[in-house]
Amino acid sequence: MNWPSHGANPHYIYEAMNLPMPEKRMDLSANINPLGPPKALRDNWMNFFTDIGEYPDPEATSLKKRIASKEKIEEEMVMVGNGGAELISLLGRFFAGKRVLIIQPTFSEYEKACRANGCDIVYEFLDESWQLNLERLPLHEVEAMFLCNPNNPTGICFSYEQMLALAKLCKERNAYLVIDEAFFDFWESYQSLVPIMENFSNVLLLRSMTKMFAIPSLRLGYLLANEKVTRKLKSYQSHWSVNGIAIRAGEICLQEESFIEQTHHYIKKERERLFSFLKEEGFEISPSETNFYLLRWPHIESQLPLFHYLLEQGIVPRHTMNFPGLEGRWLRFAIKREEENDQLCKALKEWTR
Ligand SMILES: Cc1ncc(COP(=O)(O)O)c(C=O)c1O
Repeated sequence: MNWPSHGANPHYIYEAMNLPMPEKRMDLSANINPLGPPKALRDNWMNFFTDIGEYPDPEATSLKKRIASKEKIEEEMVMVGNGGAELISLLGRFFAGKRVLIIQPTFSEYEKACRANGCDIVYEFLDESWQLNLERLPLHEVEAMFLCNPNNPTGICFSYEQMLALAKLCKERNAYLVIDEAFFDFWESYQSLVPIMENFSNVLLLRSMTKMFAIPSLRLGYLLANEKVTRKLKSYQSHWSVNGIAIRAGEICLQEESFIEQTHHYIKKERERLFSFLKEEGFEISPSETNFYLLRWPHIESQLPLFHYLLEQGIVPRHTMNFPGLEGRWLRFAIKREEENDQLCKALKEWTR
């Protein structure tokens, strides 16, 4: 079967499963803020329209300056990308031909970018506690590693102390450490790693703005890294890669602190409610601290029958066939609005009967 490699665009999954797509659907396969984009984006939309006749600033200087000032770092340490995804592919090119460690299960684009650039890939697989065991990592063998924190697809967060210890280990072995923090702003107790970058020039932090601010179609992300790295990556990036609307939207979103707080509050409440229901009904879940989680019905090894059942109900989870280390034994769900989460609970309750 030709499994779609990502969530979203549900028609691909219905086609792959050879199922008719119900008219009413609920897509839980993309981990986007259920509150939708901040109101300020809607309010400014017509102003964006007046700008589309101009070329965007290829350096995205205004946005870069704001990110740098927010993070209290030099502007040269910031690189803006056409989504986190673009920055990952540029990193693949940066690591071309090198030996790279990827902690699985995780976001598939690291492997794709590395493979496209002839990297030699080494894997470390997390067991189903989903925790990271630093002593086991084959760091002596590699020149770079990718880690996702909070990790997609488990929603598990690795502590600040563990990241600091990992940064030290990587530095001792002369290896780059890329930490993909695409979901950092959903993690209520996140402690920023930016201050450690002064002593650890091998640490690269990757962030996406498309999830928290619900703008996946605009495409916006940024990388925080030492100046040598950002300069090199910039030389690979195509001119005007980040569009002008995304730049303007990013500037607005950076000021949306109370929107982030409101999101935390909403997601936490829904997560606690969902998790207590799901456990009560006998489902296993990953103890996520973010806006998505893994789920399995423990009485079946492959979750394909449950996946099939939910698709028929118009509920679209993310399959895990292409997550090495999961291979369909789990399904991933985004936490959505209360009424949608209720609909999921209702369908899952019926499944257990
Ligand atoms: C862990 C992770 N990193 C990066 C990305 C890319 O995000 P963007 O939409 O900013 O390209 C995604 C998208 O799903 C993701 O899950």
